[in-house]
This record gives sequence, structure tokens and C-alpha cells, in this order.
Amino acid sequence: MVVEPPATPDYVRKLQAIEGFAEISEVMRSPDFAQGATEDRRAFLFDTLIFIEGREHDERKRVYSELFSRESIACYERDLLQPVIDQTLDRLDAARGSDGLARADFVPMIRLLLHRIAAQVTGVDGVDADERTERFRALITRINEATSSNFARGDSRELVAIGFAALKDLVAEFLQPSLDRRMALVKRLRAGEITMADLPRDALTAKCVAGDLFREGDRGENAHVWRECVLFLIASTGTTTVSLPHVVTHVDEWVREHPEDAPKVRDPEFLRLCVAESLRLHQTAPVKFRVAIKDVTLSSGRTVKQGEMVALHAPAANLDPALFGPDANTFDPYRVPPEGVHPWGLTFGVGPHMCLGRSLVTGIKNRPDEKYGAEGMMVRILKSLYRRGMRLDPDHPPTRTAVTFHDAYASMPVVFARAGAA
Ligand code: HEM
Repeated sequence: MVVEPPATPDYVRKLQAIEGFAEISEVMRSPDFAQGATEDRRAFLFDTLIFIEGREHDERKRVYSELFSRESIACYERDLLQPVIDQTLDRLDAARGSDGLARADFVPMIRLLLHRIAAQVTGVDGVDADERTERFRALITRINEATSSNFARGDSRELVAIGFAALKDLVAEFLQPSLDRRMALVKRLRAGEITMADLPRDALTAKCVAGDLFREGDRGENAHVWRECVLFLIASTGTTTVSLPHVVTHVDEWVREHPEDAPKVRDPEFLRLCVAESLRLHQTAPVKFRVAIKDVTLSSGRTVKQGEMVALHAPAANLDPALFGPDANTFDPYRVPPEGVHPWGLTFGVGPHMCLGRSLVTGIKNRPDEKYGAEGMMVRILKSLYRRGMRLDPDHPPTRTAVTFHDAYASMPVVFARAGAA
């Protein structure tokens, strides 16, 4: 399978294109550029971590630093993720047909699983029973569609209004009760009745402890704390749910062409290579935006005017043969990236806004031990599913989404061949 850079909407083609790996990295790292986005996205996220810069950004990041420590990541994996994976797999086992096979659609299955994890990392209570998880997922999906309506194909005017209505419901049904519980806990902490170790390990609790919840003029669902929750929820669901199915199609093709590697699909080390290579080939957004805060001349000599929004074509940069070899647009888990370049290239960004959740997704290399080590969410999920005999359903090929410019699958039927513990 040859991977092509994603198509982009017309308005993107009118912006100055930043295309090379080095130039994109320079812009992402530069203090002369700020986060850029269309008005619709900004309306949901304008004062969140991803839209603030400089010292304010450094300080806000520190609020969350403990959430992504080695210890926290190991705990998320072991105590949050693995039980949800096991529950999903037990259900599949219970649903095996008389032929011993279980069938599922990988896309909604993974979405449900990852929404539960996103809820826990963000600090949203009560996303456990099926109906509640489904309701939560539906609300987050509408908000996700609204915040990325600039990549919708066709008419996107309705999406933003639908997204704000979903946010109102999300606050009333999930976020406000979760905040109330955490504020009561922090009150007890301040009174010396409990310690930090008794608090939940999530972003909303971190905001409560920092005492940074509301801004002047905040009203109802239009409040800083809800916007920050939205950032965490969309950053963690809109990405991993899109990335995982790509790994499955690449692994399927690889083991058909390299049958000697078939047993390795249960090996976390091989899966780690597959995940990184697949992440390089597929990014969640077709393009990223930055705005110059003053007139800038880049090392290449390219000039950008103050206030100008530029489009960073990171997916194409990740396919650069000069960096990743002549077959850069194909999947090879054994590819060795050049010195100083991550195996996933620019997929998690670089510079101050680099993905905060990256270690949670990719794991912490060289430490796959019980105490601190982490395989990463993607490897852990895939390992568990492959150990239950998952493969693509040969009779029902996957289908791509047609409603957005995102590089994503809409459906991916899979078959689980045999029972057995993960
Ligand atoms: C495959 C999964 C993921 C991918 C590909 C991904 C990618 C990215 C990228 C490219 C950025 C930088 C955006 C920019 O520079 O404009 C980013 C930022 C961010 N990501 Fe992720 N992400 C993933 C998963 C997650 C998860 C699981 C979480 C949270 C638990 C998360 C939380 C964040 C946050 C909070 C930011 C904003 C950081 C800042 O502005 O300082 N991401 N992500």
C-alpha cells in the first residue's frame, strides 16, 4: 500500500505552504509563531493549553506534568486501560458464534474503549455502563466534528451549533457533577483530611488543585474549565481512534507479504515498531496552522508577514524520501529513522506544543516493567486483541470515511479466531 499525502480543502491551498520537515520543525519551535486555527475551532478552545504561548503556556503545562509522569502512565495502563480491554474481550468471547468465531467492527469497538480511557484521564466520572459511555461518545463526537469542521467535506455550517449544544449537555450530564466531586475532595485536602495520594489522577483534578477554573465573564457552558476539558477529550479521542485502524491494515498487509513475521503480531516489541511506522505514515490532521506574530524570515529564506497564517503540511514531510529512504511512502516496521528524528516523524508535533499525551500513546521505551514501564496504549490494545486471534475479516473489507478530509476509516470488520487469555 502506497501512502499519499492527504487532500486538503480549498481554503488551505490559498495559504502559504510550509512543506519540508526542517522548515515545519523550525516554525513549530519558533517563538515568532503562535497557534493558528479557523474561528470555529478557536471558539471552543481559545484559552486552552493549545492556544496559549510563552510563559503562560509553560506554567499551564506544569499543572499537568504529574499526569504524564512515568508512574502515572504506568498506572493508567495497568489500572485503567487493561481492565477496559479485558472487559471488551470478555464480551467478545461471550459473543462467539457456533463456528467459534467472534465478529466485531474495530472502529466503533476501539472508539468506545478509548472514550472510557479519555474520560478517566480528563476526569469525567460515570463513563462506565454502556448506555452512559455511548451517550458520552455521541456528545464528544459532535464536539469533535465542530472543532474540526474546517476539514469537513460538504456543508459544515450546522456542525458548530450542534457542537455547542452537545457541550451544554456534556457539562450538565457529565462535567459539572465531576467537577463538584473534585472540588469537595480538594476542600478536604486543604482541610488536611486527605492527602494528594487520595485524589484522582486526572486533568480536572489538576485544574481544581491549581485553583484555575473560571475566567471573568464565564457563563454556563462557556467557561474556561469546560474548554480545557474539551481540549483533553478531543485531543485524546479524535487522534488515537483514527490512528489505531491504520496499524491494523498495515500489519495485515505486512504479514501477508512477510509470513515469517505472522507470530510476531503478539510481540509488543514488534508492535511498537509497527505503531511508530504507521503513525509516521498517517497523521490525524491533514495540515496544521500557525500565525506569525511578527515579520519572519526562516532559515530557508522564506518570508512570512506578521499576522499571516501558514499551513504546515506535516503529513507530506513525514513521507520525505531524503529522510526516510526511497520507499518512504510504504510501511516497513524495520525502518531506521535518521539520527535525531523520531520514528513517527512529526506526528506528535515538535516544540512547545508537542503532544502532551505522547508517552501515553507510544509508551516509555526501554522501561516495559511493571512498576514504571509502559508499552503505550496502542501497543497494549493491539497486543491484547492479536492474542485473542484478531484479523481483518476477509469477506468484508474496511471502508474509509467520506465525510471529512481526515485520513480515517469509517468501518473495519474484524474476526477473532479463537479464545484464550490475553
Ligand atoms: C495517536 C494519538 C495522538 C496524536 C497523533 C496526537 C498528536 C498531537 C499533536 C500533533 C499535537 C500538537 C498540535 C500542534 O502543535 O498544533 C498534540 C497536542 C496535544 N495533545 Fe496529542 N495526540 C495524540 C494523543 C493524545 C492523547 C491521548 C492526549 C491526552 C491524554 C493528548 C493530549 C494533547 C494535548 C493536551 C495537546 C496540547 C499540547 C500543547 O499545546 O501544549 N494527545 N497532539
